[in-house]
Amino acid sequence: MRTVLVLNGPNLGRLGSREPDVYGSANLDDLQALLTDAAPEDVTVDVRQTDDEAELIHWLYEAVDTGTPVVLNPAAFTHYSYALRDAAALVTKAGLPLVEVHISNPHARETFRHTSVVSAVATGVIAGFGFDSYRLALDHIVRLT
Ligand code: DQA
Repeated sequence: MRTVLVLNGPNLGRLGSREPDVYGSANLDDLQALLTDAAPEDVTVDVRQTDDEAELIHWLYEAVDTGTPVVLNPAAFTHYSYALRDAAALVTKAGLPLVEVHISNPHARETFRHTSVVSAVATGVIAGFGFDSYRLALDHIVRLT
């Protein structure tokens, strides 16, 4: 059994009710169901969310220690967390894929969202496709691993 970690940063626990015009009306349980459905039978998709930067960093250490690929929506941490970037770099430097995803297209939004401090250390970035951003990232990882 292979596992893919799908890690979500701050305020994404409010998906479903948070700015549905931007993020849609589905919540994280819906995301878990969608990705479980999309994954092959031998792949476990572990969807997690935290508002805590340290917890997110520790989950990235866990990915390194267990050799687990990562789909990461860093949410607002995307734009300013060098600590998260350094932890994400540990994942890709370990030879594991880390795909940065966004539900919305940050480049079509406020200027502060145009910068990602994570992208340069990610394997790739998928943004603007709603929950499909996660599904596309999962497809890539499944094909790769
Ligand atoms: C987001 C985009 C970020 O700018 C924002 O802070 C989020 C969600 C997205 O998935 O579109 O919380 O990462």
